[in-house]
Amino acid sequence: MLSVTDLDLFYGDARALDGVSLAVEEGSTTAIVGANGAGKTSLIRAIAGILRPAAGSIRFRGREIAGLPSHVVCDLGIGQVAEGRQIFPSLSVRENLEMGAVIPRARADAGRSLARVLSLFPRLEERLGQAAGTLSGGEQQMLAIGRCLMGRPELIMFDEPSLGLAPALVQELFRTIRTLAAEGMTIILVEQNVAASLKLAGRAYVLENGRIVLSGTGAALLDDPAVKQAYLGL
Ligand SMILES: Nc1ncnc2c1ncn2[C@@H]1O[C@H](COP(=O)(O)OP(=O)(O)O)[C@@H](O)[C@H]1O
Ligand SMILES: [Mg+2]
Repeated sequence: MLSVTDLDLFYGDARALDGVSLAVEEGSTTAIVGANGAGKTSLIRAIAGILRPAAGSIRFRGREIAGLPSHVVCDLGIGQVAEGRQIFPSLSVRENLEMGAVIPRARADAGRSLARVLSLFPRLEERLGQAAGTLSGGEQQMLAIGRCLMGRPELIMFDEPSLGLAPALVQELFRTIRTLAAEGMTIILVEQNVAASLKLAGRAYVLENGRIVLSGTGAALLDDPAVKQAYLGL
């Protein structure tokens, strides 16, 4: 569904991605693991069309998308739940959700999408008229995911979705991601909870200093001595 080949990305002279290649199969969950500063967010932002790579290719359903503007990428069916959630705090929950459906691919189905999001997150239904900034951290994360789903994505990229959530909410978040995966959603997952993300992932990649240094099935990486030592504290 998605293939990234030899991707290079720079901030000025500083290289953030160095020859990154990966493949994401339709309907699979792919984990990207790496320390702070490894380049995970840069990779997601390059795929989303927010950052322009210096070289390399990003193909989605056979079409080259590297360098396309983010609204075009979004309209092709690639959604992201960005690091830090990025909801609009002064707008209501309903308005935040509706903003997710402004792209052409999603507009006509906005009503159905809203019903689906509210059945996934009943707590949001009780708070539709409330300013999004008054939601708890966990509810804001639900809203960010809900807004992404309103765009009817076929591929969702999650960037550190559990960051700052209490343990019970982290469990709930992983349940939500598993539900989406079970419904056939294609998922790219970047997570501090490395063990949990590898358990979910059919395939996983380890990013270090902008390079993919290891890849394999989630189960194989969970069992890899280098991964255990560096990311699982074992
Ligand atoms: N806007 C930016 N300007 C300059 N350097 C950046 C910027 N964003 C990230 N970087 C640098 O790029 C590298 C990769 O960062 P990032 O993709 O955010 O990593 P991760 O998400 O894995 O923590 C880091 O060295 C980081 O300092
Ligand atoms: Mg990051």
